[in-house]
Amino acid sequence: MGYKEVYDSWKQDPEGFWMQAAEGIDWEEKPSKALFDENAPLYEWFCDGKVNTCFNALDRHVAAGNGDRTAIIYDSPITDTKEEISYAQLLDRVASLAGALQKQGVEKGDRVIIYMPMVPQALEAMLACARLGAIHSVVFGGFAANELAVRIDDAKPKAIIAASCGLEPGRVVQYKPLYDGAIELAKHKPDFCVIYQREQNPVELTEGRDHDWYGFQEGVEPADCVPVEGNHPAYILYTSGTTGAPKGVVRPTGGHLVALNWTMKNVYNVDPGDVFWAASDVGWVVGHSYICYAPLVHGNTTIVFEGKPVGTPDAGTFWRVISEHNVRSFFTAPTAFRAIKRDDPKGEFVKQYDLSCLRALYLAGERADPDTLNWAADQLGVPVVDHWWQTETGWPITGIPVGIEKMEIKIGSSGVPFPGYDIDILDETGQPQAPGTLGAVAIKLPLPPGTLPTLWNAEDRFRKSYLNTYKGYYETGDAGMIDEDGYLYIMARTDDVINVAGHRLSTGGMEEVLASHPDVAECAVIGVTDQLKGQLPVGFVCLTKGVNRPHEEITAECVKLVRDQIGPVAAFKLCVVVDRLPKTRSGKILRATMVKIADGQEFKLPATIDDPAILDEIKDALGTIGYARA
Ligand code: COA
Ligand code: AMP
Repeated sequence: MGYKEVYDSWKQDPEGFWMQAAEGIDWEEKPSKALFDENAPLYEWFCDGKVNTCFNALDRHVAAGNGDRTAIIYDSPITDTKEEISYAQLLDRVASLAGALQKQGVEKGDRVIIYMPMVPQALEAMLACARLGAIHSVVFGGFAANELAVRIDDAKPKAIIAASCGLEPGRVVQYKPLYDGAIELAKHKPDFCVIYQREQNPVELTEGRDHDWYGFQEGVEPADCVPVEGNHPAYILYTSGTTGAPKGVVRPTGGHLVALNWTMKNVYNVDPGDVFWAASDVGWVVGHSYICYAPLVHGNTTIVFEGKPVGTPDAGTFWRVISEHNVRSFFTAPTAFRAIKRDDPKGEFVKQYDLSCLRALYLAGERADPDTLNWAADQLGVPVVDHWWQTETGWPITGIPVGIEKMEIKIGSSGVPFPGYDIDILDETGQPQAPGTLGAVAIKLPLPPGTLPTLWNAEDRFRKSYLNTYKGYYETGDAGMIDEDGYLYIMARTDDVINVAGHRLSTGGMEEVLASHPDVAECAVIGVTDQLKGQLPVGFVCLTKGVNRPHEEITAECVKLVRDQIGPVAAFKLCVVVDRLPKTRSGKILRATMVKIADGQEFKLPATIDDPAILDEIKDALGTIGYARA
C-alpha cells in the first residue's frame, strides 16, 4: 500500500486501523476497543487494556532472545566516553533501580521528577518509573532552580532523581545548587532524592534526603513490571505556553506505545536491530519519544549523545557518530545543521567519514529553512525529511512516510498528514480555507493515540488552550497553509511562544521575569529572526519613574535575571531600555509589529496604534543593541 491507501484506510476505519496497530504491543490484557469517546471532546484511547511500557521496551525483547542486542550506545565526546548497553543489561539495571524506588515507597501513580543530563542513567530512571507505573516528569537539565520549583509544585513528586552535574563545553553545570534551590523554593517537598554521582563532579549528599544511585540499589530485589490501564499517564512533560506557568502535557500509556511503535517503521523506516539516532535531549519531547521510548519499544539501538553539533570537538562529530555506530535514520533540529554549516560550509568534515549506512535525515522542532535543507541534502545525499509535531502530540503530525512510500519531498513543506491527523486551515471564524490560503492550522478531533488527553491537574486550561477556539478541532498554535497536493507548510506561531535553537520558550514567561526587576515598570519580549538559532528573544524595558541609574547596568541585571530564573538555554542576551512601548489605543502591546521592525520586514501601520512615532523609537533602540535590519 502507498501513502494514500494507508491514510484512506485509517480515515475509513480509524478504530480498525488503531486496533491493528495495537497488535504491535504486548498487552497484559488486550483492550476491547481503541477510542473511548464518552467524555467528548475529551477523548481517550485503549482505556480498558492493561500494559506496561518498560515490559514493551525491555523485557519482551529479552524474552524473545534478543537480550544481547545493543539497546543503548552512550557516546559522549564531552567526557570522551563510549559505552554499549545490551537489552539484557539494561533490563537488569532498570529492574534494580525500580526495586530500590519501590522499596522507598514509590508506587503506581506517584510522580517522580528526573533532572539529568544526557547519560544512559536518565533513560534508566525513566524506564524504572515506567516499570512501576510511576509517572515521571523529566525536567531539562539546564533549567534554573525556579523553573524546577514550579514543576515540583505542580507535579508534587514523591522523589527526585538527579545527577550531580551536567557538562557543557568548557563548563561543569553544578546541579546540586539547582535542585537544592528548587526544593527550597517549592512548597511541596519530595520524600527523597536519588543522586547519580558523576566522576567529573561528585557532590556531598544531603543527609536524610539524598541516596546515592548505587548505594540505594545494594541488596535490593529487582522489581517486576506493574501493568497499568491504557489511559494511565506514562509521564508529564512541561512545555511553554503563553504565560510563565508551564503546561503539564500528559502522555497516556497505551496510545503512546501504539503510536510510537507504528512510527518507527512507517515514518523512520527502521527495522528492529537497526541503529536509530535522535540528537536531542531527554528534557524535550524528542528525547522522550525518540531517544528513549520508540526505539526501545521497537527493538532498535538508540544513541545517547552527550555533546554538541560543533565544538565537541568539531563540526564532524555528527558524521563520526553516524559512521562509527552505523546509524540508519538520524533526527535532529535544523539549528544543529545551521551550526555545522557555519563552521564547515564546504562540508570538509563530511568527506572524512563513510556515511553509506545513513538512509534518511529527519528535521523538526522549528521551521527548516530551505538553505539548510538543501545544504544537508547535498552533503549527505539522502532524503531530508522535514516533519512537524509538538510536545502535545508526542509523535509527528506531518512528514514524509518514508517507510510506506518514497514520496516527493517539497522544500519548505513539512510533508503530508500521518494517519490519525485530519488537518484543516481555518480563518478567524473557524471556516476551513481553500488550498494555498494561510490560516490557523487545526486538527479535527479526536486526536490520535499517544497525544495529550488533558493537562496535568488543569483540564480547564486544556480546554481553553486547545479546544475552545475552534469547535471540534484541536488548535495547534501554528499558522500555515496546505497546497493542492495536501502538503502542509508551517509558517509561524499564532501565540507568544518562540523557538530558540529548537527550544520552545514563552516570551510571556520572560516578561514575567523582567517585570519582577524593581526598576522595570513595563516590558515586552519578542522573538526576532536569528541566522543560527532560528529565533532569539529581545527584551524592551520601560523604567519606573525616577530611576536614573545607567541603562546598561539595568539591562545587564535583566539579562542575569532571566538566565538565573529560566536558564541559559533561553539565550536572553539582548535587552534595551525604551521610554514607551508601541500599543493599540486599547493598550495591547504591538509585539508582532515590533518583530517586523526588528526583522526589517514590511508592515502595515496598525490602524489602532496609539502613537506611530513610537515605532521609530523601537527601531532606534534596536540599533543601539546592534540589532537593526531595516
Ligand atoms: N545545562 C546547562 N546549560 C545549558 C544546557 C544544559 N543542559 N544546554 C545548553 N546550555 C547553555 C549553553 O551552555 C549556553 O550557555 P551560554 O549562554 O553560557 O553560552 C546556553 O545554554 C545556550 O545553549 P545552546 O542552545 O546549546 O546554544 P549554544 O550557543 O551553546 O549552541 C547550537 C548552539 C546550535 C550548537 C545548539 O543550540 C544546538 O546543539 N542545538 C540543537 C538543538 C536541539 O537539539 N534541540 C532539541 C529539539 S529537537
Ligand atoms: P515543541 O513542543 O517544543 O516540539 O515545539 C513545537 C512547535 O515547534 C510547533 O508548534 C512549531 O511551532 C514548531 N515546529 C516543530 N516542528 C516544526 C517543523 N517541522 N516546521 C516548523 N515548525 C516546527
